[in-house]
Amino acid sequence: MADTTAHPITASPGAKRIDPHEVGTDISRRDFLLIATGAFVAVGAAAAIWPFLDQMNPDASALALASVDIDLSGMEEGQSITVMWRGKPVFIRYRTEAEIQAAREVPLDGLRDALARNANLDPNAPATDENRAAPGNEAWLIQVGVCTHLGCVPLGQQGNFGGWFCPCHGSHYDTAGRIRLGPAPQNLPIPPLAFIGESEVRIG
Ligand code: FES
Repeated sequence: MADTTAHPITASPGAKRIDPHEVGTDISRRDFLLIATGAFVAVGAAAAIWPFLDQMNPDASALALASVDIDLSGMEEGQSITVMWRGKPVFIRYRTEAEIQAAREVPLDGLRDALARNANLDPNAPATDENRAAPGNEAWLIQVGVCTHLGCVPLGQQGNFGGWFCPCHGSHYDTAGRIRLGPAPQNLPIPPLAFIGESEVRIG
């Protein structure tokens, strides 16, 4: 039976502590869709106000240092959670073998965006599944959940490629978060991250 407890979010020295209420935990596909739908509605407005918030922020350097530590030990294969990092949703998916395999079977020359868009790698690193997944933890895909078209929050485990679907204008991302169809120009970005324990990841 699926774990229904909230996943603890811990703070480390220098890390920003996230209020558990900021965290969406999806235990089933249905729950994920509900969370994602709510996020989408909220971000429809948020996309318009982000530039103002950016300008009003008096301490961008402090924000730039912000990081969050996420304990993933309660998650099971096939589950996803959404956490907030620097004011943006970050999707954390514990991918299934089938999802990993599907992503790896895609020829690189068939990708719209050939770059990994992974902040942990060289900017020119190719968009292989290995370069998209968390280093040393290929089952984990951790990416900023903001559509690269106009900034809506895509819905998980939907779309033509079983990854994410952005209903704003119909962008489809695959199980590695790579844009495959629709107007979005780039893959979903991978934030700076590192596993700091067997099942704990630091984002930022
Ligand atoms: Fe996602 Fe336009 S904002 S497709």
